[in-house]
Amino acid sequence: MPETIESLLAEGRTFPPPKDFKADALVVDAEIYDEADTDTEGFWAQAAAALDWFEEWHTVCEWDLPFAKWFVGGKLNASYNCLDRHVAAGHGDQVAYHWEGEPGDTRTITYSQLLDEVSRLANALKALGVEKGDRVNIYLGMVPELPMALLACARIGAPHSVVFGGFSADSLRDRINDAQAKVLITGDGAWRRGAVVPLKDTADVAVAECPSIEKVLVLRRTEQDVPWTDGRDVWWHDLVPEQSTECPPEPMDAEDLLYLLYTSGTTAKPKGIMHTTGGYLTQVSWTHSHVFDLHSDNDVYWCAADVGWVTGHSYIVYGPLANRTTSVLYEGTPDFPDKDRLWQIVEKYKVTILYTAPTAIRTFMKWGPEWPEKRDLSSLRLLGSVGEPINPEAWVWYWQHIGGGRCPVVDTWWQTETGAIMITPLPGATTLKPGSATFPLPGIGADVVDDAGNSVGIPGGGYLVLTRPWPSMLRGIWGDPERYKETYWSRFDGKYFAGDGAKRDADGYFWLLGRVDDVMLVSGHNISTAEVESALVSHPAVAEAAVVGKTDATTGQAIAAFVILRSGNEPSDALVDELRDHVGDTIGPIAKPKSILFTEDLPKTRSGKIMRRLLKDVSEDHALGDTTTLADPSVVEGIKSRYLAQATEQD
Ligand code: WT7
Repeated sequence: MPETIESLLAEGRTFPPPKDFKADALVVDAEIYDEADTDTEGFWAQAAAALDWFEEWHTVCEWDLPFAKWFVGGKLNASYNCLDRHVAAGHGDQVAYHWEGEPGDTRTITYSQLLDEVSRLANALKALGVEKGDRVNIYLGMVPELPMALLACARIGAPHSVVFGGFSADSLRDRINDAQAKVLITGDGAWRRGAVVPLKDTADVAVAECPSIEKVLVLRRTEQDVPWTDGRDVWWHDLVPEQSTECPPEPMDAEDLLYLLYTSGTTAKPKGIMHTTGGYLTQVSWTHSHVFDLHSDNDVYWCAADVGWVTGHSYIVYGPLANRTTSVLYEGTPDFPDKDRLWQIVEKYKVTILYTAPTAIRTFMKWGPEWPEKRDLSSLRLLGSVGEPINPEAWVWYWQHIGGGRCPVVDTWWQTETGAIMITPLPGATTLKPGSATFPLPGIGADVVDDAGNSVGIPGGGYLVLTRPWPSMLRGIWGDPERYKETYWSRFDGKYFAGDGAKRDADGYFWLLGRVDDVMLVSGHNISTAEVESALVSHPAVAEAAVVGKTDATTGQAIAAFVILRSGNEPSDALVDELRDHVGDTIGPIAKPKSILFTEDLPKTRSGKIMRRLLKDVSEDHALGDTTTLADPSVVEGIKSRYLAQATEQD
């Protein structure tokens, strides 16, 4: 008998590692935390030793706040670590990627094939004039050539800067110009829900205002006609296949730039986050194997993010390949051609580890459990979540309807800036609480502090800070060291401020509360948007919710809620009252939303983060701020007109 949601969500209910899972897990006890605490540098040095180095480092960590260097003096190559060494060890025939195209075409790419393709592409980049240290921009959909492009750049020491294929010409232009890239790798188009996203058209608009770009390498995928500039544009299929598969990997300094990635940023101008080679690869590979309990010979791993985000860089490309993982790579969306596409793919490839985002999980909840129920998901043994706080209801739904009540759920907290996972369970050792990211990983220092930077102790809530350098930390903001200091290191002396609120419960478990800009002040009480949203979603009629604090003459701020209902529920005034009372009962009357608007959709960034500042603009009847990073700008316009119509009624 499957358990009821109520019993899974019961106060104090915890989830120790399932016996079967633990029997075969890489880490089964908590000693590792103490060991790493006693000798943090020794711990990371051991993790680094799992990689292949051309030259050994002489110093593990050099720390001159806020700048850090890891594995100083060491030399290595990321693409060599992801490819050559596995082929040399006899694993050339292991599948690196099972690629599933959106229209249904597929490709199976082994490690030795991937090495050949990457080497050819690396030689092609050299033929286009790319030298060590030159930046290369990449603007592609989720095709195998996207990871190949990252690895080819890494192979020749040219830092890459990937721009998510859904971004506009302006976003692409600004990122290319900031990086001063010499070459752009793009495609004719990308598939999305059966339609062509015209990448080349968009790239051409961008590149018209990018004087640094000398060549544009164009992959054919969607096969429509594209605009062409002779002398600048080069077809992939004309240049790459004729190249040699011999391309010696460039020995890179541990601290050489591996890539730039611009933060998706729900607020200010995008920042070019800098990641270097040795420390980054060390932490992404260690976390990938230990957090996902990876068994390289047996697992089929699927991170359903886009390579355009840091999640894809670290946990589709560098971590999994460094660990000789067999991965699934999927080009399309979860609802094409139907709402069971992901589950069909899990069934087909017998996926064992699935890593996705709460926004996706809440969408699956909205669609209903009948979609996953149609498919055999019994191969799954571990589930992961990233990107936002996962509310307990979504966690439990994921546990039950996707994991069949047998798979640990690892909620992984990290950021583009941290490069790799920081706060999360070790699934064979940690007892889980739904909605908690649990504890900082071994070797990671995190604390929760008050306004003055003093630890609030346990239990307690405040600002999340990181107290020690970590190998995959950002090394700066490209071209703007001052902004780096100011943004991350100026708020609390000697500590990295992540921008997130967090609390620890009496057992010391971390509960992430979202960005501190998302804290509301109602009648003198600090209330986090995440808490109210979680309370709303714990009502059976609600699939997803966003709340903002709107300026209010009486209470300072009043809570405005925007709610998506689960299929089968209808908006009504009675439901508004019921939801307000439900929040009142869950958190306290102070947290009751003043207004609730039912909506079909919420304004989100392309990576699925709710843009609350736009909802705030809506609720305060301001002109909408910058909407260029929205996945679908029409959503917020629709919400605005309905909000204004309803405001008169509910106020
Ligand atoms: C911000 C970083 C990390 C890759 C994807 C996002 C939020 C991320 C969690 C989590 C609560 C989370 C934080 C963080 N966030 N993961 N498990 N629980 N919040 O990368 O775009 O740089 O965003 O995402 O607010 O600061 P990003």
